[in-house]
Amino acid sequence: MAKPQISYRCIECGYRVPKPLGRCPNCGSWGSFEREAESINIESTTTPAQITTLSQVDSSQEKRLSTGMTEFDRVLGGGLVAGAALLIGGEPGVGKSTLLLQLAANLLAAGKGVVYVAGEESPRQVKIRAKRLGVTADLSLMRETRLDAVLAGLRQVKADLVVVDSIQTLESEGVPGSLVSVRNATQRLVRWAKQEGVTLILVGHVTKEGTVAGPKVIEHVVDATLYLETAGMYRLLRSAKNRFGAVGEVGVFRMEDSGLAEVPNPSEAFLAERPQGVPGSVVGIALYGERAIALEVQALAARSPYSVPKRVSQGLDARRVDVVLAVLERRLGLKLGNLDVYVNLAGGLKVSDPGLDLAVALAVYSAVVGKALNQRVAAVGEVGLAGEVRSASSLELRKKESLRAGFDAFLGPAEVRNIKEAVREAMR
Ligand SMILES: Nc1ncnc2c1ncn2[C@@H]1O[C@H](COP(=O)(O)OP(=O)(O)OP(=O)(O)O)[C@@H](O)[C@H]1O
Ligand SMILES: [Mg+2]
Repeated sequence: MAKPQISYRCIECGYRVPKPLGRCPNCGSWGSFEREAESINIESTTTPAQITTLSQVDSSQEKRLSTGMTEFDRVLGGGLVAGAALLIGGEPGVGKSTLLLQLAANLLAAGKGVVYVAGEESPRQVKIRAKRLGVTADLSLMRETRLDAVLAGLRQVKADLVVVDSIQTLESEGVPGSLVSVRNATQRLVRWAKQEGVTLILVGHVTKEGTVAGPKVIEHVVDATLYLETAGMYRLLRSAKNRFGAVGEVGVFRMEDSGLAEVPNPSEAFLAERPQGVPGSVVGIALYGERAIALEVQALAARSPYSVPKRVSQGLDARRVDVVLAVLERRLGLKLGNLDVYVNLAGGLKVSDPGLDLAVALAVYSAVVGKALNQRVAAVGEVGLAGEVRSASSLELRKKESLRAGFDAFLGPAEVRNIKEAVREAMR
């Protein structure tokens, strides 16, 4: 009988090699090789798996636990779910530990059991942060990086929520910090949380590419992935995956001395510094999940010293902006040939939303002709190559937000047919 072939498999991309390598030659991941499971023998003594039918499954709404923060609950789709595992990723210093400490304090105040596993910081550092945030609740801390010790410790307490800050600091099988190790730690913690019905929140570091280290391997295991991102003085909490709610939802916070403060009305917050009566400033209504937010699109046009003029866009899809510029040139006869054009979504936000095309078009037009538009205009619509204004998703929702934020001169596909009409209306 031939000896069974042992091979090693990259857990990121599935590439097989006879010997484990430090780095996968196929996808470039480090420490990602694990021994392939040897062939599985089905023994006759194995208890057969149970089968249920859909009608026997209890589908009553799972119970949600409020985070004590409306903005956080919104992103989760209504609050924390017992037994669910959640991954929160974000750049160093963005405020992950701050947000989770605030959450822990809120749950404690609501009479829930919370354990904070601090692999990254000493209890003293956590205490200093708690003091700064005004957290007085007596939180249970665990300073431990060995996974087995963490799990053994957790078995001795009764917790509703366990926060692990961060998953990369936990040591399990394999090289510490390697993909295999992080994946194993995640899988074992998640299995434990599901068994016990405990909500688990894992903090994950973000790589240079902007994803949580070991993106696929961890994200497959958890029920939801949230990212905390910087947008100027604001922090956005965004859902990238959610088995219990919609993706793309955002919660808006502001970093203050006392921690992250909720911003319940982002449209007003993001427009607070909008200049009045200045050319090149137009309000568009962007869509984040099921929420419409009014944002200012700014444009500036300046004579170019270069033979090929510059096109710079920040916070917006650069290719979409290029298309809008070409349409303005061809359909409105706007001369952009010797102008550098800068387009910016004010407030440090980033969005890829075709519905902002019309606002971009109007902002650039206004900047080039040097005339301010009607300040009460808000524009929504995709701009087609023929210069036509096309519909955008959730148009009604956006229009409602426009009116609510005080922009009663709404311009969309129902109000104007093409950019020519849009310009005429916006100038009134
Ligand atoms: N004394 C302070 N006063 C005001 N703000 C502070 C103070 N100390 C820290 N901060 C703010 O808190 C932020 C750090 O937040 P936090 O430690 O929660 O980030 P993190 O995402 O957990 O970072 P890491 O990935 O390094 O763990 C800092 O960037 C700063 O904005
Ligand atoms: Mg931290």
